[in-house]
Amino acid sequence: MPATCVVGLQWGDEAKGKITDILGDSHQFVVRYNGGANAGHTVVWGDRTFKLSLLPTGVLKPHITSIIGNGLVVYPPRFLEEVEQLVSAGVPVGSNLVLSDHAQVIFPYHMEEERLAEADADGKIGTTGRGIGPCYQDKVGRRHAIRIGELLHAKHLTERLKQIVPFKNRYLQAFGGKTFDVHQLADEYLGYAEKLRPHVADTTRLLQAGLAAGKEMLFEAAQGSLLDVDHGTFPYVTSSSSLPSGIWAGTGIPSRHLTRIIGVIKAYTSRVGRGPFPTELNDGPDGIGERIRKIGREFGTVTGRPRRTGWLDAVALKYTADLAGADEVTVMLLDVLSGLKEVKINRAYMLRGERITHFPSDAYELDQCEPEYETLPGWSEDITGCRKPSDLPTAARKYVDRIQELVGLPVSMVSVGPDRAQTIPMK
Ligand code: GDP
Ligand code: IMO
Ligand code: MG
Repeated sequence: MPATCVVGLQWGDEAKGKITDILGDSHQFVVRYNGGANAGHTVVWGDRTFKLSLLPTGVLKPHITSIIGNGLVVYPPRFLEEVEQLVSAGVPVGSNLVLSDHAQVIFPYHMEEERLAEADADGKIGTTGRGIGPCYQDKVGRRHAIRIGELLHAKHLTERLKQIVPFKNRYLQAFGGKTFDVHQLADEYLGYAEKLRPHVADTTRLLQAGLAAGKEMLFEAAQGSLLDVDHGTFPYVTSSSSLPSGIWAGTGIPSRHLTRIIGVIKAYTSRVGRGPFPTELNDGPDGIGERIRKIGREFGTVTGRPRRTGWLDAVALKYTADLAGADEVTVMLLDVLSGLKEVKINRAYMLRGERITHFPSDAYELDQCEPEYETLPGWSEDITGCRKPSDLPTAARKYVDRIQELVGLPVSMVSVGPDRAQTIPMK
């Protein structure tokens, strides 16, 4: 059974949504295994643009079964809102969308906990404010976590909330935050439960049955590998395993079934939120960093925050490609670099006077790293209409070839615009 994973190898927003959409057609299942509505995956079909936060990209095609795995944290109103948005855009959503009964539920007190934590200037991570971290904290802490399946049992849910909410309120009050009423919360969530019910199932069993029947599965990562809670630039990471290692725990499908791991990268680097970023271009309004932000429309899909931008970092890419077990990479947004006289790639760091070629994933070490760039000639041509490798200007091809050499993996696709059609297969 061929199972494929689409994973971002940077700090997110590598255009995983576009690749998942392109590959989705040949799979029966598209599965999200980590995160929640902190993700923002964009799909462009001609004049139609879809932005998905919590729902798998496969949901745009009703013949695909789209699964929200047990590894996710789900805010029910967001789930329902996204479904509604799709339905009003003419995309039918029904039994093709399945939500794990083991996924965790986000409550408003999670958002409030996050708001208070992020208000502390020293402890701020620059999160999306969607309650992701506090909900995962409760999952690992066990006592105060509620799973989707529990919402379907009214009496049980009320009892659980009676146990949890007073505890949360004491904590929130101590930090000057809002408090919550058990019965109001129970009523609100029981209302959501009725709408969620038709979608809720034991997705592990469903996927295992699919596996046994030889169905093809596409696992869609949220966030990027440098935001992975274990291997990313901790503590400036998200709270889940965005690397393919998250698949086994987050869906119940053993990773040995993966036959293709596609590492998605931008032709440069972007990052939202705080944390070290050695190749960042802080070069002001007339600089290349701002130009990339403008042309690449680098503003967060979820929060609208301007994304930080910088040159490609081959040291970071080698690190994440190895961790992800990537077989190939796809180079996205190459068109954004058109018009630059020269383009740069980082290939080593200077750390405390020493040249290193490995990636120090500890934020405090990475923060002290100075990049060592290799400079390549740029290209002036508009490449958004290129459809085959030979259409690309020589300098653009050389840039892609160099990425291939530095990362040590074949580049299987190059993307030259947001539309599905603006894609060049390189094989
Ligand atoms: P994801 O979170 O990894 O799915 O990526 P996002 O959707 O957050 O961000 C990628 C952005 O780049 C979206 O706005 C896409 O429509 C856009 N995009 C994708 N591929 C290309 C490309 O090749 N060129 C340009 N200019 N934009 C692209
Ligand atoms: P996609 O799937 C880019 C970042 C946040 C913040 C950090 C922690 O679209 O690539 P969180 O709310 O998860 O606790 O925030 O992670 N972040 C993302 N950055 N793309 C994403 O998702 C992200 N999801 C979270 O900006 O720095
Ligand atoms: Mg995104």
